[in-house]
Amino acid sequence: MQNLYSELSPPVRRLMGPGPVEVDPRVLNAMSMPMLGQFDPHFTEYMNEVMSLYRGIFRTNNQWTMLVDGTARAGIEAVMVSLLSPGDKVLVPVFGRFGHLLCEIATRCKAEVIPIETTWGEVFDPQQIEDAIKKYQPKVLGCVQGDTSTTMAQPLAEIGKICRANGVMICVDATASITGMPLDTDDWQLDAVTAGLQKCLSGPPGIAPITINDQVAEVIRKRKHIELGIRPDGYEASDGEMISSNYFDLSMIMDYWSEARLNHHTEATSMLYAARECARIVLQEGWQNRFERHSITSEALVDGLRAMDLDVFGDVSNKMPNVTGVYIPKTVTGDKVRMEMLNDFGIEIGTSFGPLHGKIWRIGTMGFGCRKDNVLACLSALEMTLRRNGHSATAGSGVDAALAVYNRTPGQDAARARA
Ligand SMILES: Cc1ncc(COP(=O)(O)O)c(C=O)c1O
Repeated sequence: MQNLYSELSPPVRRLMGPGPVEVDPRVLNAMSMPMLGQFDPHFTEYMNEVMSLYRGIFRTNNQWTMLVDGTARAGIEAVMVSLLSPGDKVLVPVFGRFGHLLCEIATRCKAEVIPIETTWGEVFDPQQIEDAIKKYQPKVLGCVQGDTSTTMAQPLAEIGKICRANGVMICVDATASITGMPLDTDDWQLDAVTAGLQKCLSGPPGIAPITINDQVAEVIRKRKHIELGIRPDGYEASDGEMISSNYFDLSMIMDYWSEARLNHHTEATSMLYAARECARIVLQEGWQNRFERHSITSEALVDGLRAMDLDVFGDVSNKMPNVTGVYIPKTVTGDKVRMEMLNDFGIEIGTSFGPLHGKIWRIGTMGFGCRKDNVLACLSALEMTLRRNGHSATAGSGVDAALAVYNRTPGQDAARARA
């Protein structure tokens, strides 16, 4: 243990795992702004601005677009515990670890959970989901957009419409995909979407942006029970089943984010500042620039890995543009290579979970970290490290292949477009 009283001085890393990723310096700066009281008009104005900015991020007109304090799963849990009553049927298409997480959270809400599974590395055909909806007739469909554990992205545009046509509410976990690839809450008819800051939004983990539409809000409002100590005059409890979590009770959180400003928790001030800056950065860059930057970087990385005789994992046509899975060559020990990348080059890449543990590495190129210099540094460090571990590729082959992609598309390699 170092001297307990020494100042923090974490090593500088290129965080190229599945998240958390490098925080944009603008966000770090925003987090150092002075604390304000929860009901200071400047602070409540920031809350309103956050609602408005995240309507832009989620591409929605939903009034109830706000933050839940806690990491990304706090957003998922808040929606589920507030929406699901015991016995409600929830269908979950599982194509990786985070589908299992949705099942687990819904089970804790005492819902009747029906998972349908596909092989890790693949996604569902919309027809499979429609068939399952017809068969099981759930109240809610819980679906991950981009499952970082497998690097696969489930196409959702049709699935939202299938749900709407069948009277099913769809809740989407977009934690890992939001702003790295398209997500159109209103156009795709998604009823609830939850996220986190620590992936493409380039913030620290610790607060979860969410949006819910009026239909979801109405179900939640019917379950509203306000804490005894803060009940306003004339309050009458609703007769709906009480939401079984206080912290994640969206009916009370909505009151806090509405003009009623009924005190619930103490808002995580610095995280709200962070979330506000994350959204501003994305919206200033613009969707087209942003999606092109992520997809070109993904292409450069994939070509670079393949040029080094490595195999990219899964159905590449459905790969998330911000995370790439690559098979660990049989001749090397995955964790040893990762540790050498970290210790010798300061570059973090990830491993995976469950059936993929020890089989693939995952390389993240997200938000602020989605940069040409990161891709080139990662490929050259990987080449060197693999060579010392017995897997040789032609010297410089990975970097050359990646550069060829960037040279075809000049101008798309900027860290981000600064407005
Ligand atoms: C798709 C997805 N959902 C949910 C989570 C859980 O997020 P957190 O660890 O912030 O609670 C993650 C984290 O990696 C994720 O990738």
